[in-house]
This record gives sequence, C-alpha cells and structure tokens, in this order.
Amino acid sequence: MLASLGPLVAILLLRMGAASTERASYNYSVYHPFSEIDNWMSQILFDNPDIVSVERYGKTYEKRDINLLKIGERSGAVKKAIWMDCGIHAREWISPAFCQYFVKQILQEYRQGGKMAEMMADLDFYVTPVLNVDGYIYSWLGNTTRLWRKNRSPGSAGCTCFGTDLNRNFNATWGAIGVSTDCCAETYGGSGPLSTPEAASVARYVEQRKADVLCFLTIHSYGQLILVPYGNPNLTAPNYEELMMVGQGAAEEIKKVHGMSYRVGTSPDILYPNSGSSRDWARLTGIPFSFTFELRDNGTFGFRLPENQIQPTCEEAYSGAMHIVRYVHHQEFSGAAATAAASLWGALLATGVTAAHAL
Ligand SMILES: *[C@@H]1O[C@H](CO)[C@@H](O)[C@H](O)[C@H]1NC(C)=O
Ligand SMILES: *[C@@H]1O[C@H](CO)[C@@H](O)[C@H](O)[C@H]1NC(C)=O
Ligand SMILES: *[C@@H]1O[C@H](CO)[C@@H](O)[C@H](O)[C@H]1NC(C)=O
Ligand SMILES: *[C@@H]1O[C@H](CO)[C@@H](O)[C@H](O)[C@H]1NC(C)=O
Ligand SMILES: *[C@@H]1O[C@H](CO)[C@@H](O)[C@H](O)[C@H]1NC(C)=O
Ligand SMILES: [Zn+2]
Repeated sequence: MLASLGPLVAILLLRMGAASTERASYNYSVYHPFSEIDNWMSQILFDNPDIVSVERYGKTYEKRDINLLKIGERSGAVKKAIWMDCGIHAREWISPAFCQYFVKQILQEYRQGGKMAEMMADLDFYVTPVLNVDGYIYSWLGNTTRLWRKNRSPGSAGCTCFGTDLNRNFNATWGAIGVSTDCCAETYGGSGPLSTPEAASVARYVEQRKADVLCFLTIHSYGQLILVPYGNPNLTAPNYEELMMVGQGAAEEIKKVHGMSYRVGTSPDILYPNSGSSRDWARLTGIPFSFTFELRDNGTFGFRLPENQIQPTCEEAYSGAMHIVRYVHHQEFSGAAATAAASLWGALLATGVTAAHAL
C-alpha cells in the first residue's frame, strides 16, 4: 500500500515544488506569452484570495475571455474604483508587462500597510493585463506578426484585411478625425462605434460603475507621453487645467526615478488628433480623470523595447501612476468639502463655456 502510494506522493511533491518555484520566480523583466500571463493571473489570485478576485467581463472576437483583476479590501460598502487596462494595442508589449508589475507592487505595498492599505480600504483597482488578447497572441507568432496593432476581427464585406483599431472604436466622436475607414489601415475604426467585442466589453463594464470610477488609466507605448482628453481638437475637457496639473505632477515623479522625460498634453497638442479612443470615451461618459500613458521609449527601439528596459520603465511609470492615484484618492476621501465644491462649481462653469465651442 505505502509502496504503491510512494511514487504518486513523490510526483505530487515534485509538482508542488515546481509550482512554488515557478511562483517565486515569475520574471517581471522579460516579456511573457499570453498563456504565461494567464497563469500568472491565477497565481496572483491563489496567493492573495483575501483581496484579489478575477472577473471575466467579455470575450474577444476569437472567443477568448477578457479578464481583470479586482484588487482591494472586501467591504459591504460601495467602493470607489481605479481602472487600468493594458495591451489594447497588440505590439506594445511593455504595456502588459507594466500592468503585471503594477499589480505586484500594489499587493506588496498593501501587505506593508501604510498608504496603500488605507487606499485599498476606500477603493478597488480594476486591472486588465491584456485587453486585446487575440492581437497579443498574434503578435507572438513570429517576427512577421510582431508589430500587429489591431484586434483580429475580419474587415467589412469585400475587404480581405483583418483587425479594427480598438483605440479608434470607442464612442467618442467616433470616426471624426485621425481614423481610417480602410479596413486594411492600422487605424481602421471599425464599422461603427463599439463594433468590436473588446471595446464593447470595456464600455459596458465601466459604464455600469461610472459613478464610482475616479480614474481611468490606459497604458500604451511608445513616446514617453501622458495624454489627457480630448483627441478631438474641437473639444476641451471641463477640468483640462486640473488634468494637466495632475499629469505634470506624474511626469515629475517619473523623472525623479530614472531621469526620463515624459511630455504632458492632449493628443492633438503633443501627438496627433484622434477620435474614438477609450481615454476620451471615459472622460465623455463622466469619469473625471482619464489619462493615456505612452511608455518608453522615444523612438530608438519603439515597440521592440529591449527587455533590459522593462524594469526601469515599470518603476518610473509606477511612480507616475501612483501620483495620479494618490491625487484622486485624496480629492475623494480627505473631506476637503469646500475645495470640492469650488472645483465642482468651476467645472460646471467650464462645461457651459465649453459647450458653446463644442461640436
Ligand atoms: C529574468 O530574466 C532576465 C533576462 O533573461 C535575467 O537576466 C534575470 O536574471 C532573470 N531574473 C530572475 C529573477 O530570474
Ligand atoms: C524582424 O523584422 C524586422 C522588421 O519588421 C526586421 O528588421 C528584422 O531584421 C527581422 N528579424 C528577423 C530575425 O528576421
Ligand atoms: C454613442 O453616444 C451617443 C451620444 O453620446 C449615443 O446617442 C449613442 O447611442 C452611442 N452609441 C453607442 C453604440 O453606444
Ligand atoms: C471642428 O469644427 C469645425 C468647425 O465647425 C469643423 O469644420 C470640423 O470638421 C470639426 N472637426 C472635427 C474633428 O469634428
Ligand atoms: C530619447 O531618450 C534617450 C534616452 O533613452 C535620450 O538620450 C534622448 O535625448 C531622447 N530623445 C529625445 C528626442 O527626447
Ligand atoms: Zn497604443
């Protein structure tokens, strides 16, 4: 009896040993194929069941699950939310790497108590490590697909090309500018707003919680930029000044880490005009703080950022993102009622002013 159980027990022990070694050594300084990121999500859940849950909130065109990690203290009360998505553009591999680093860091800081523990009592982080799962997997097939950007849905009737640019597919003055109607183009905006299951899943999920979402962060590369709404030059965010101030603060924090310069502004001011982005959609739907991060580099390696830059890129971007998170947390929870009322009044006035100039 014992003799026959022996090998089985040994195998089980070996497996457990292998699993825990794997866990201890998930390497945040290399790029991972989707299957490994998927396993990593399960491991994060397994290791932190008290504050982490996984939610499947949609399916990709190719019917893969779109998952997010919800991270925060369990509470009966309705909590505020911080949204972060990575990997909306397939080839921007540093982006999913950043979301994973971000999750690792906030969990570590939570366990140390202090500010992060305080914030996680008030709010939850909703982190999607890879939004465009189909595209990400496609970009891993080989060198010829490495620079794929879009999702993998087929083009409109009569067009043989694949893929919609998910960051032109949101319902934010969809189709107006900086977008292509050619389904072979990199910036093809789709057949209509939210025509892709990926963009529609994000919109549906966030829309349901929008009253509680303090901040929407969407992570891209490259260019070292922090973009504020709007991509459409005819629109101005009612809290543009505050968005710029908070963005500049984030850029200053980034610079302190490894000396890298990030520029801050609207897309038409510092990159190019565009419509249909998730950042603009989030702001239009009423989420006060919405930013796009364009991580390293500034063009030397572009989308093929070497792995030895993953760690420093994540460290600096983490500082920038946490500056924004601390700001929105402070605004919401520090009882600065007079300040809040004043800025609400300012925002209302600004809305009126802006409406006159809007589309
Ligand atoms: C992660 O991978 C890099 C690049 O291959 C290597 O230099 C580093 O030692 C690895 N780190 C760990 C913790 O295994
Ligand atoms: C991969 O593709 C890039 C351009 O897309 C090219 O410059 C490079 O030489 C290719 N590498 C290999 C190993 O084929
Ligand atoms: C897009 O937004 C407009 C106005 O905000 C709304 O009327 C329309 O129904 C929305 N379309 C979709 C597909 O959500
Ligand atoms: C901005 O407004 C001008 C003037 O009304 C108009 O001609 C132009 O098409 C608008 N641009 C966009 C992107 O909507
Ligand atoms: C790009 O970044 C490198 C450091 O990675 C820096 O030396 C260079 O000056 C930057 N170039 C521009 C145009 O910002
Ligand atoms: Zn991008």
